[in-house]
Amino acid sequence: MAAFTTFASFNKEIILLDELKVPINDRAFFFGDGVYEVLRVYQGQPFLFDEHMERLKRSLSAVNIHGVPDLTKDILANIALNDVGEGMVYMQISRGSAPRVHSFHNASLTPNILIYSKPFHEHPSDHEAKTGITAITHDDIRWGRCDIKSINLLPNCLAQSLAHEKGAHEAIFIRNDKVTEGSSCNVFLVKNNVIKTPPLSPQILPGTRRQFLTHSLRADGFHVLEETATKSELYDADEVFITSSIKEALAVIAIDQKPINGGQIGDISKRARELILDAAKSRLN
Ligand code: PDD
Repeated sequence: MAAFTTFASFNKEIILLDELKVPINDRAFFFGDGVYEVLRVYQGQPFLFDEHMERLKRSLSAVNIHGVPDLTKDILANIALNDVGEGMVYMQISRGSAPRVHSFHNASLTPNILIYSKPFHEHPSDHEAKTGITAITHDDIRWGRCDIKSINLLPNCLAQSLAHEKGAHEAIFIRNDKVTEGSSCNVFLVKNNVIKTPPLSPQILPGTRRQFLTHSLRADGFHVLEETATKSELYDADEVFITSSIKEALAVIAIDQKPINGGQIGDISKRARELILDAAKSRLN
């Protein structure tokens, strides 16, 4: 296997990612006690940077992790150090290191801050943009604060792995017959030219691309509703697409093996993707 030449920053120490040793007492290791962000980099610039940093602040404050300095300089320095043109940044902040005790009450902990960035050798969703993707539905077995970008992703990993086992790309979570989101993305449905995405609530992550697209699709003249949708509305939709930093927007052409839009990529899904890519390009110029 090729060695990583990715430089990471761990508590400001710069080290090759594959040589990085994290403390065994990091609460991220024992409890998944931390939050994270994933940013897409286009031509060396992180896209929707402020939106990601705002969400990171919200996640930190929601789980009472305090004392995290502004990370902008470290993120930009890491992108430059790894010579990332097209690629991504991952950052993870745990509550800190301490002997394994559940409660952190009265513990004086210093957050552990990991940042690394990686170039993409291939565009991560170009191929899927041409073919469309397939999905399964899956019971939303997650906790009640999915709006926090917590590193606790076991239900998401289980659901996406089951999707892959069944030959699909993604798992779309359903809670009490309502669509929430994908295992690592937000979900949009189209019916009779009306676009619907589940409203912000503790049951979904407020996706940066979700927010970007609700605004820019409206500006483009589309009727976009932030409303709940049932599982049968999902099956009956004219189009379904998913959104995330890395996947941008991708059409879902079958769900639970039932074709959507006759198994073809629809025009609104294409337009959603175009809006993200055009904005990424135009902000660089
Ligand atoms: N995931 N919902 C979930 C559960 C997610 O994990 C993600 C992103 C999104 C979309 O958020 P955004 O548009 O801000 O990327 C929605 C990232 C990419 C990940 O975990 O790798």
